[in-house]
Amino acid sequence: MRTQVGIVGAGPAGLLLSQMLHLRGIESVIIESRSREAIEATIRAGVLEQGTVDLMTEIGAGDRLKREGFVHHGIEIRYQNRNHRINLQELANGRVITVYAQHEVLKDLIKLRLETGGQILFEAKVEAVDEVTGTSPKLRFTTKDGKAQKLTCDFVAGCDGSYGVCRKTVPEDTVRKDYFRVYPAGWFGILAKAPPSSDELIYVHHERGFALVSTRSPSVQRLYFQCDPTDKVENWSDDRIWAELHARVSGDGFRLKEGEIFQKGIIPLRSIVCEPMQHGRLFLAGDAAHSVPPTGAKGLNLAAADVHVLARALGAHYASNSSDLLEAYTSTALRRVWRGQWFSWYMTQLLHRFPDASDFDLKRQLAELQLVTSSRAAATTIAENYVGMPLS
Ligand code: PHB
Repeated sequence: MRTQVGIVGAGPAGLLLSQMLHLRGIESVIIESRSREAIEATIRAGVLEQGTVDLMTEIGAGDRLKREGFVHHGIEIRYQNRNHRINLQELANGRVITVYAQHEVLKDLIKLRLETGGQILFEAKVEAVDEVTGTSPKLRFTTKDGKAQKLTCDFVAGCDGSYGVCRKTVPEDTVRKDYFRVYPAGWFGILAKAPPSSDELIYVHHERGFALVSTRSPSVQRLYFQCDPTDKVENWSDDRIWAELHARVSGDGFRLKEGEIFQKGIIPLRSIVCEPMQHGRLFLAGDAAHSVPPTGAKGLNLAAADVHVLARALGAHYASNSSDLLEAYTSTALRRVWRGQWFSWYMTQLLHRFPDASDFDLKRQLAELQLVTSSRAAATTIAENYVGMPLS
């Protein structure tokens, strides 16, 4: 088999890239280890920056998102039992965010890609990426029915997430350096059949730990609370979950709405950046190159920004045989990645109560929370970073 761009992974990065390449007349094949059903059912994040919404719209995947997504003009930051609003729209030049679940984004992109003649091999496992420093790299993979196959490409896009084979293909130490931080906390996330408790997302600072009130639809709430990252879902009965959420979130006239919990999970909090994001003809994008703690709602948006840069660079290569943009991929993409890393770290340290935190840390956090909710300059910094820079 042969194609122009071999894409490993049918997550947001791989699917967006494939469609953007298609619109530039460039052929690609996506190889994905999971089944379509599994991808479309996995619950992940849900906040889209304006730039991500614009990109979805531009490539023809914006219709359902426009109809069913929820535009939020502000967020609430809650501490000492009171909400303080950050007016995103006013502080960030009219830019806003849209709440639309990641797996809905994936459903829309898979459907569009298949309708426009895209090739996605589901349940096919890439074993290795060979010859990336030559002119025709190869993906060695096993198909759904167990056959060993090879895909020869001009370029490989590694969009296979944190645990995929692509990042490991970039030799550690001699070429690749990973910058990382692991936080002593996880997020316990639930989906509950209940109408939204609030019109806007509430980021909660509490002495018992962080909590987040988000939403999915008029009848489903998405709620999170900080937990021990080694804790087990089985340790948390529904009653215990609601008691913990109420202790952190309810009070002073506000009460969280309860409903049947139908999904529970624990996610770790970590920051990773892999540099460089390119090795030979292999280009890493999205979680394959970096991950952020979810507090800044940046993961999916950084993936979209990476492939926006990559699609343009590959477009320039095929249209005019120019390699300047491809060579600049790492430095161009990393500027936004490190800004996103900083913001995700910033929101995490501002709002979480880590086990080793002192009373001084708590007082310092409260002073900073007062600053960001009373100083227009400080609130603007949060608003601008939360809504994200436009994709240039
Ligand atoms: C979500 O709705 O899943 C969500 C929202 C905001 C975040 C993280 C996750 O910062």
